[in-house]
Amino acid sequence: MALEMDKLVSLCKRRGFVFPSSEVYGGINGFWDYGPLGVELKRNIKDAWWRDNVQSRDDMVGLDCSIIMNPRIWEASGHVGGFSDPMVDCRATKERYRADQMYVFAYLFPATNAKGEPTEAWLAGLGGSPEEAAEGVEKRAVKLARKFGKPTDPPEVTPYLQIAAEDRIKVVGPATDESGTLTEPRSFNLMFKTYVGALESESNVAYLRPETAQGIFANFKNVVDTARVKLPFGIAQIGKSFRNEINPRNFTFRSREFEQMEIEFFCRPEEAKDWYKYWRDARFAWYTGLGLRSDRLRLRDHDAEELAFYSTATADIEYAFPFGVSELEGVAHRGDYDLTQHMKFSGKDLSYFDEEKKERFTPHVVEPSAGADRATLAFLCEAFAEDEVGGEVRTVLRFHPRLAPVKAAVFPLVKRDGMPEKAQAIHRELKRNHNVAYDEKGAVGRRYRRQDEAGTPFCITVDSQTMTDDTVTFRDRDSCRQWRVPAAGAAAALRDLLEGGAVPAAE
Ligand code: GAP
Repeated sequence: MALEMDKLVSLCKRRGFVFPSSEVYGGINGFWDYGPLGVELKRNIKDAWWRDNVQSRDDMVGLDCSIIMNPRIWEASGHVGGFSDPMVDCRATKERYRADQMYVFAYLFPATNAKGEPTEAWLAGLGGSPEEAAEGVEKRAVKLARKFGKPTDPPEVTPYLQIAAEDRIKVVGPATDESGTLTEPRSFNLMFKTYVGALESESNVAYLRPETAQGIFANFKNVVDTARVKLPFGIAQIGKSFRNEINPRNFTFRSREFEQMEIEFFCRPEEAKDWYKYWRDARFAWYTGLGLRSDRLRLRDHDAEELAFYSTATADIEYAFPFGVSELEGVAHRGDYDLTQHMKFSGKDLSYFDEEKKERFTPHVVEPSAGADRATLAFLCEAFAEDEVGGEVRTVLRFHPRLAPVKAAVFPLVKRDGMPEKAQAIHRELKRNHNVAYDEKGAVGRRYRRQDEAGTPFCITVDSQTMTDDTVTFRDRDSCRQWRVPAAGAAAALRDLLEGGAVPAAE
């Protein structure tokens, strides 16, 4: 059964994964807070990324640089001049929309669009097969129609830019019935501006970084001079980025404050193509290894028209979210564009000297750039399942054990006969190494359901048999299989299971 986004959003709220930011004050669009379970999940994702891409490798070092940097950095990177989206305003309602994300309804202006069909080229831009992409468009249009109280039947839609090119005058914005209220598309810079120091003058303008990548380029020379690194090597950074997105949407997918996990991998120009291929495949495999089923995860190479002018190859790792196929991570071959720009703007030499070959040159770079929030959302979507256990429907989050917010829960079957004391002692022992919960409230079946919804892979119950033979019941989240383990061996058994050990066959 296809996952409905509303169900996931409500589970996230109910169980404390994700809350709307500033909710007691009515919220703020495009900002989200991670609750007690969400913060653990997202932290596990970032830790897995750092462990697998930085600490376990010999050719990668980490960095943590400031969010506000010298504004010249954003001139060099092109963000001051060009980091913008085409926007349209509705003169009637004062609403503002991203032009490329607007769908308008064919039946509102039949004169401009007789067929109401999106073009092949536009569909291709969405990724996936044309059929799937068309389905995505239709779903979004129906949702939009519902939101603005428009009829949803027939759901014939076309993207705004396509209509605009034909006859903008007849276009009707989604929140009005009047035609001709939409302005021409205009550019809108996505960077959040602020002022550094007491004076709010143009000379004190600074920006909240819209990506972590530029801080890496700005520190290239510092790292080369201090870390004894030799090409090929990478610099990795995890941190917050900010974009004043015009139309934040799809839960945390497009937020105004989000976290990125970025690598700039520097190499000799003639090796860049091979390293690009390596990172494209390695990053795809990272997601599948942590449980993103490969048929929802896709690798899409950009065609020539889509490539940035400095890039010779780029691929998007995409995920089929309930709201459509969308980008999780981009892997780009960026040539020597960034270092060259920073040399030009800073006047500093950022070239590299190869001691062995006695050669000086500007390294080329491959950039795998991922979003921690989008990864969290994809892992949540993938994990969400509803199945039947004991004649009842249960909701379960089947997280990979490395990512599960809580690794195990310990229960006393009843609150007497020494069971709580025994269970608490096991809980204390397991907590030394893992995030483990203790729960003694309600029927044990309900406690299992609570942990299933939180995605806890294993439950450990102290029952009456424990009090006679000192064994406990282990229960596996996914198969609901149960088996007994000596209480003294519970910590070792849990460690083995979390490291990929098999769940024993049914007794
Ligand atoms: N340095 C390259 C760069 O920033 P990007 O495609 O703009 O490239 C990289 O962003 C990743 O950051 C995206 O694949 C996505 O996972 C995440 N990301 C970008 N904008 C985001 C937003 N508004 N909300 C959440 N995540 C976002």
